[in-house]
Amino acid sequence: MIENSKLTVVGAGAVGSSVAYAGLIRGSARHIALYDIDPAKTEAEVLDLAHGTLFTGSSDIAGGSDIEVAEGSHVVVITAGAKQRPGQTRLDLAATNARIIGDLVPRLLEVAPDAILVIVTNPCDVLTMLAHEASGLPAERVFASGTVLDSSRLRWEIARRADVAAGSVHAQIIGEHGDSEFPLWSAARIGAVPILQWRRDGELLFTREQLDAIAADVRDAAYRVIRGKGATNYAIGLSSARIVEAILRDEHAVLPVAPVLSDFHGIDGVALSVPSIVSAEGARPLHETPFSGEELATLRDSAEALRGVAADLRG
Ligand code: 2OP
Repeated sequence: MIENSKLTVVGAGAVGSSVAYAGLIRGSARHIALYDIDPAKTEAEVLDLAHGTLFTGSSDIAGGSDIEVAEGSHVVVITAGAKQRPGQTRLDLAATNARIIGDLVPRLLEVAPDAILVIVTNPCDVLTMLAHEASGLPAERVFASGTVLDSSRLRWEIARRADVAAGSVHAQIIGEHGDSEFPLWSAARIGAVPILQWRRDGELLFTREQLDAIAADVRDAAYRVIRGKGATNYAIGLSSARIVEAILRDEHAVLPVAPVLSDFHGIDGVALSVPSIVSAEGARPLHETPFSGEELATLRDSAEALRGVAADLRG
């Protein structure tokens, strides 16, 4: 762990507060700061979190509406921006949130020049392209939380059907954190067993139809939660805290985050979630990841769709 590690979370809404809460409970960083332009809301969230720190590890929490609270951060997780309303896609938020990210990134880097930036605000992959441009940093230091959350959803769906622990399911969602995402079924395993060969009572459990239904459930999971409670926050909070730990502990953990890709199976200049090695240096895409022909074609389609959205934003 980096000594005196510092995480700043930008945005004190449901997502930002949950990232800070998860970070405190998991001990993801020694110091956690919450920054938001709304002073009253930030003060209230920081107080509420601080009042519980007797029961967490050794992490502390501070914050406010002055960007200086981010000073010296090793990691900044950006959650600020408009959130999806029922019926909206993540891409519908692009124009509004692009302005917010474009304004934030240079100001954050003034006070935290060595930080790694993790973009959670949606559409997180498109905004990563803009944040990367605005930052002037190497690609590995700016990346989206991407499909780490979707992969957790996928592993949970498989685990409960197969009656195994989610940690024993090795499967990832890749591509856009949104409607064109897809599972990398060709590499999915439970233990060492390829998912297509998993049997219960002698019968194959995961038929093609089953796998398609699981992929659809995962893709639509956020819509379902948003319909019911107006936002998703706990699972994205936990996923983001997990990413922060991989950075601050220099874990070299393989996680499906989204840096801007360069010559990744022919994809260039687009941020997309692919299995990447996450360490104190940031995120490095795992170029050796094998894909079936169909998976690669789907990934390239996803890349072109996001490239188009980013180009429209740049005008
Ligand atoms: C989620 O997937 C909405 O991107 C958010 O929970």
